[in-house]
Parts: sequence; C-alpha cells; structure tokens
Amino acid sequence: MRDLTPSRAVALVARCEGMALSVFVGWLFCFLAVSQVGARERVLFNDDWRFALGHASDRDADMGHAKGYFSYLAKTGYGDGPADPVFDDRHWRKVDLPHDWAVEMDFDPTASFSHGFKKVGPGFPENCIGWYRKRFTVSEVDFGKRIFIEFDGIYRNAAVFVNGFFVGQEPSGFVSQRYDITEYLKYGDENVLSVRADASTEEGWYYEGAGIYRHVYLLKTDSLRVARYGTFVKTSVEGGRAHIKVETTVENDGRELAEFKLQHAILDANGREVAKVAVAESLKLEAGENLVRDDELFLSRPKLWDLDTPYLYTLKTRLVDSTGVTVDEYDTTFGVREIRFDPNKGFFLNGRSVKLKGSNNHHDHAGVGAALPDSLKEFRIRKLKEMGSNAYRVSHHHASPALLEICDRMGMLVIDETRLMGINEYHFDQLEHLIKRGRNHPSIIMWSIGNEEWAIEGNIFGARITTRMQDFAKRLDPTRPTTAAISGGWGGTSTTVEAMGVNYIRHGDVDRQHAEFPDQIILGTEETTTQQTRGIYVENAKLAHQPPIEDGSSGGNAELGWRFYAERDYTAGVFFWTGFDYRGEPTPYEWPAVLSQFGILDNCGFPKDGYFYLKSWWSDEPELHIFPHWNWPDRMGETIEVRAHSNCEEVELFLNGESLGRKTMVKNDRLAWDVVYDPGELKAVGFRKGKATLEKVIRTTGTAVAYELDAERSEIFANGEDVSVVTMRILDAAGDVVPTADDLARFEIEGPGRIIGVGNGNPSSLEADRFVPSVESFDLGEWDAPAPWDEPKPLRFEAVFDAPNLKVGQSGRLYLNVIGRDQVVHLNGEALPEGTEFALANLSLKPEGNMLTIDAQPFEEWGAKERVAKLKPAFVGVFTPAEGYRRKAFNGLAQVIVQSSGEAGEIVLRAVGELETATVRIKAKEH
Ligand code: GAL
Repeated sequence: MRDLTPSRAVALVARCEGMALSVFVGWLFCFLAVSQVGARERVLFNDDWRFALGHASDRDADMGHAKGYFSYLAKTGYGDGPADPVFDDRHWRKVDLPHDWAVEMDFDPTASFSHGFKKVGPGFPENCIGWYRKRFTVSEVDFGKRIFIEFDGIYRNAAVFVNGFFVGQEPSGFVSQRYDITEYLKYGDENVLSVRADASTEEGWYYEGAGIYRHVYLLKTDSLRVARYGTFVKTSVEGGRAHIKVETTVENDGRELAEFKLQHAILDANGREVAKVAVAESLKLEAGENLVRDDELFLSRPKLWDLDTPYLYTLKTRLVDSTGVTVDEYDTTFGVREIRFDPNKGFFLNGRSVKLKGSNNHHDHAGVGAALPDSLKEFRIRKLKEMGSNAYRVSHHHASPALLEICDRMGMLVIDETRLMGINEYHFDQLEHLIKRGRNHPSIIMWSIGNEEWAIEGNIFGARITTRMQDFAKRLDPTRPTTAAISGGWGGTSTTVEAMGVNYIRHGDVDRQHAEFPDQIILGTEETTTQQTRGIYVENAKLAHQPPIEDGSSGGNAELGWRFYAERDYTAGVFFWTGFDYRGEPTPYEWPAVLSQFGILDNCGFPKDGYFYLKSWWSDEPELHIFPHWNWPDRMGETIEVRAHSNCEEVELFLNGESLGRKTMVKNDRLAWDVVYDPGELKAVGFRKGKATLEKVIRTTGTAVAYELDAERSEIFANGEDVSVVTMRILDAAGDVVPTADDLARFEIEGPGRIIGVGNGNPSSLEADRFVPSVESFDLGEWDAPAPWDEPKPLRFEAVFDAPNLKVGQSGRLYLNVIGRDQVVHLNGEALPEGTEFALANLSLKPEGNMLTIDAQPFEEWGAKERVAKLKPAFVGVFTPAEGYRRKAFNGLAQVIVQSSGEAGEIVLRAVGELETATVRIKAKEH
C-alpha cells in the first residue's frame, strides 16, 4: 500500500470536497483511492455511444451548441448544446465504434469528387457535424488516479467535452489524441463524454470518412508513470546475442517529490521472462518533472522478427515506490530485427536482401467506409500477403495504432506517413506524434515526411523544408531513414531527402538520380498498376467500367513498374498505387464513378487480373491465371486475346480440347494467345521442368440460377468486434461463377451476428453500403423556461399537437422531463402514469389536437432550476428501422461483412432473391 502522507491526504480530501462529498466520505474514499492506486488500466470505450448529426453553419440546427451567452470558450464547464451533460439524447441513435457516418450517406453528383460523392463536406453543412455522446461511471476507488480519454483518430477537427468541460480539439483526422480528464470527473457517479466531429473541411483528396472511426480508451494511471509513448526500444544483434537499449521517460504530475525504483523485464511470446534489469539506485523525481534514462538488456539466442516469423517480445517496465508497491506497469511490444538500406544494394532485413514488394493504401473498405474493425484490417493485410506483398505504405496520413499492431503481428513492412509538410508547430507536432507513437513497431522501416508537395518539391523551399523535417525526425528516431514521395518536381526535395521516393518512374531519370546522388537510398513510393475494373474487358465509360490498361493515368502498368525496380538492385523496391481500390478519386472517370480503380484488388478485396501478375512474381507459390472470362455470345468468330499470368516455365492453352500452342514464360512477363472465340472450355496447363504441374480452366457459363455464400472465416470470436468477410457468388447450373451476373440478393441474418456493410467493387454502384435506422424528433409546444433567478411560481407547460403520421414499420415515443416537484402530466385530460418515456402506441392519441399539460411546483435548489431551464419538457421521437441489407452482385460477386454481436452461438446468413437461396453458418466462439 502507498504511504498516505498527511499533505497528500489533505490535498485529496480538498479535491473530494470540491466534488461536493462530505468530509467523512471524502476521507473514506480518498483512503480507499490511495490504497487502490497502482498499475495502469486501459479500458476500451467503443460501446454504447449515442450519435446524431448537428450542423456546420446553423447553431440551432447544431442543437444549440456554441450559442450560449457564455459558451464553452468563454467559461470553463459551459459546454452547451450536446456538450452540456444535461442535454437530453435519449432519442439519439445508438452506435458502437468504430463508426463512419459519411459511408451511411447517399451519393450526390454535387458532392466531393475526391471523397466519392457522399453527401458530406463542402455543400452539405447539414451532414458535416457528427455529435457523439457516451455516459460512463468512474468508481470512487479511482479517485486519486490520473484519468485520461484516448482517441486513436476522429475525422476531423474534433472538439471533446467531459461533463461540459472543453478538454481539447485536434484539427487532424488522423492524429491520436489523449486528454487528461481527472479534475472534471464525478467519481462514483455518471459522467458524460461529448465529441463534436467536423468534417466540413477535407484534409486529403481521397475518401477520409467522418466520425470516431478508430478506437477510444479510458486510461487510468498513477501520477508517477511512464510517459505517453515513454519507451524507445532499439535492438541490435551481435554474435547470436541481442542488445536491447531502452530509453524510458518517466513523469511525475503529482504534487510531491516521488522516489521510486525502475525495472525492465523482457517477456517472450509465451509470457516467460527472458531478461531483466532492475535499476539499483532509487530515482527521485520532483513534482511536475520528467526524467529520461537509458538502460540496457541482453537476450541470448533471440528470435528475430521477420516476414514469415514476426516474433514479438514484450518489454515490461515497472515503477515501484519506496514501500515496494508497483505504481505503474507499462508494456512495450517490440521485435528484434535489423534493417539496413544500402544505396547500392537496396534493403536488408536481418542481413538478408529483401526487395520491397509494396502497395499504397488508403484506409477505407467496401461497406464500412473508414470504420474498419481490426479483423477487417487484418483481412486486408492477409490478402496482400497472399499475393506475396511484403510492404505497405500508409498513404497519406498516420496509420491507426491497430493497423501497426497487425503489421507487427503478421510480418508486413510499413512506411508510415505524416500528413502535411512544413516546419511549424502544426507540422512538427504531427511528425513527432507519428514517430514517437510508431518507433517501437518492428514493422515500420521508414518515415515518410510528405507526398507530392507540388508547391515545394521542385524548388529550394522543398530542399530546405525537407532538411529541417528530416533533422527533426532523426532526433526522434535515428534508426530509420526518412523519405518524401516526389512526382514531377525533381531538383528540390530530391536533392536533400535521405531516401528518394519516386512517385512514378515516368517523372524523372532514376538512374541519373542514383549516379548524381550515390549515397541516396532510392525506392518507388508510387507506381502505376494495370488499372482495371474487376472482371471488365470492354470499356463502358458511362459506367466507369475500365478494361486493363497498358498506359494507366500515371503512365505505365504493373509489368513496366515491377520490371523497372526488379532490374535495379540499387533500388529498395516499389509500392504500387494502390493495393485496394478506394472511394473517391475515380480518375479518369467522373460521376457516377465513386471509386478509384487503381487497386490490384477491388475495394472488397476481390482480385483483379493484375493481382495474378504480381502474385506470380512476388510469391513463391505456383500460380496460373488466364483471362478474360469466356462468355462472349456477341463475339462468335472474333479474335480475342487470352492472357496468362503465371510463374510456370511454360504454359499451353487449349480451347475445347485443342491446343493453341505451348509458350515459354520469361521472368516478370506474361503470355498471350490470339483465340478465335468459340464458347466452351478454355484450359491452360502450366509446366515446370517439362512436367505439367498446374491447370486452370474457365468455361462459358449458363445463366444464373443460385446464390452461393462463402465465409472467409467460419469461426470468429464472440466479442462484438470480430468479423467474417463473406463472399456471395452467382452460380450457373453447373456451379460455375457467372462472370457477368449482377443479380440482386437480400441478406437475412440470425443468431449472434450483424451485418455491418455490403459491397461489390462496382465503381459506379450507387447502392447503399450500410442500412441504418433513422430518428426524427419534434418538440411539443413552446416552453418559456423559468430562469433560476425568477420568482418561484407554479409551473405549467401546455402543448397541443397532432399524432405523427407513422408509416409501416415506424414507431414513436413521447419523452418527458421533470420540470419541478410533484409533477403531474395529463394527456387529453387523463393523467399519465409516472414515467418520462412512453411508446406512442400505448397512449390514447387522437389524430389531431391532442392536449398535453405538465404541472409542477418549482424546484428550490439552484442546480435543479438551472437544469430545468435547459430541458425541453416534452418531445416526440419518430424511429424508422433499418431496411434489410441487400446488394447486387457485380461480375458475379458481392461481399457481406458479418460481425459478432457479442454472444457465443451460430450465426446464420442467407442470400435470398430471384435465385436459389444460399446459407452460410459462422460460429461465434467464446474468447
Ligand atoms: C498520386 C498521388 C496519389 C493519387 C495518385 C492517383 O500522384 O500521390 O495520392 O492521387 O496520384 O493517380
């Protein structure tokens, strides 16, 4: 137990008194609190939020926020509208995080091209503000701890309030935020957290989403603790022994000198302690001070972190006070690995040359927009790894912490990127944040300080700003190089950047750059894929359906790009633009195109043909893929080029059993045959060392007769978070996927699961991604609320109203608030039973002219009178339930994302419609 020094106790009691508890109770709680103060606790705060849209330019429509004579910036604790804890949100929609309200919106041709035409952002002030509220309790025993709220990312410009106190605002939608809320909390009572996210200004030129789209946590610590991002672990290996250097920052934000001991222990992946260091001397830290110290540990025969064996250790840092109590325990996950970039030989991981086979990716996915559950992020990394990709550039913003953990766990190399170049607090704060947050992740191999900053990249400003940012980055992390991705403007940033990031080889002479700057690392930060709409081989510009193109909008194609980097040993590798299609930036098309088409996979993760080219040369697995499909009833007798992507040495093609010739594959290339179209069976046989080793058949299919559902994971955890990605296929009578089918399916779900989004990869589909309930509310009558200082007199509220015209499926509720003592409510002359919430269906309402009266005696307490002045005595909410999920297939496929709803059991998903029903079962199992 910690010492309860008199001054500490008095200070704590003073704080308890401040929270209006009696001195005795204060003493008791403070004593309990002190006895409980100890190791940190971090609680996921994703569940049970309420959500509603506000307004970006109309304060009334923003529910009265920032309207008060004294609002939240005038007086502390004066958060108004939904920032006020008193605000009545009972009718708001319930949501769990992560949540993206932009993806729930309709499309509109006047909306932002770059954000995929969803009705959010410029031109849609009524859809730009998202309010989130959450009620939570913090126990009395936590009094005395420091309590923080942490947001991994909110899009964007989020203002955060706790119990009406404004705690801070973060302009960027990608930066993790932490706020100390200790002094604003009611211990042992209800607290209200309100967040106002403002998506009216865009940061990027691609879909970014809107809302609290990453995790939220409540963190409790002692006032003596390891600082935020307070460890930096550097590893090196020599003679079979790992040398682990740890820099630790400890902070004391208590009121007294702290004396403590520091210990570090390293645990292996099974939780066994494999190394330990205990600092012998007692450390002293004055109140309000920080301390930074270096320690060393050694690991014999360490297991290295590598692409196929991403082994992770945990460094456990303990702070132990003078009585022997552990006051903080801080875990740092790290890997033992060595990275080296050689300007002549490329990238080395653990001493082995590794070519970076990478892709760029934004953060959205079909159905869910930017709000990806962790297991969906994992699904995407799995898809990229299956292709043989080993690297991921987070474009063009900070990765989510969850993504970095996944890349650590799955063995994916990462370039993490800051949003905007510049040398001021705005830019440096973000860069510092990026690096300190990420520098223990073994997956991160490089920092990117910017992307295609056209105003500066080709001139002296670029050279200067890059140098300054790079110096700053190096001070925070000397172990990784920095890059900047440069497109057209070579000659500025490219002269000073440590690692030249080439955005598209057509923009400059890479070999010349290498000759002129022989000490510079060079990599392809972006390169053109073979752009295509999945499954499309004939252009339909109106629908933005694009066949594979040899000269993509940034010049070139996957073959050209890969060959270029594969042939140049001095380059570290290449990152294609992009791994997955994303919303927005549908270049070269416009409305109704809402998705980009640069992806190697579409936005559901269904592979396009180019995927098989890269898989052939990136992965070690045998691969043979032929395309296009073989359903061309209108092209009888026409010549169609059939292509093969394969890593077999030779490939022979057969049409209806007749050989069209065996061809030899050249490394990093593809094969093609001119074939006169005749329906039937197209078969490719792949040979290695003269022996047939692989076979691929595609058939002309019949018409669609059935749906098929296939869950990528047939078992998920029953934790309310985990997902299984389900593919719907449209089959003909023979069981082949009909490659042109676009049949609609409705999805029905039973058991402990829910659908959180649907998609199909069609770039011009304007179908809904999510089906969500909606709420409308209207006030009943005007209320001339008495001011707290008004002369006390009996209160009466009167309203005459028509019953809402409820459509089939809709329901309504009457909400009342208590405006005074001895409250009596009458509806149409009859007294209502006690209560503040009634289903309209249970009330005797007339279609028109209902009379509601509330009579009460005024409260006497000032606080209660203030509260009454802010509340509506009565209002009605009309609820429209979510429509059932449905989606058309696109070229034979669609995707349904199924999430556990928390309980264990069997989830049954059905696809129903014009075709034969399909069913898939997913087991939700205990964690
Ligand atoms: C690059 C840019 C990417 C994306 C791409 C589209 O210039 O860095 O963010 O816009 O072009 O071709």
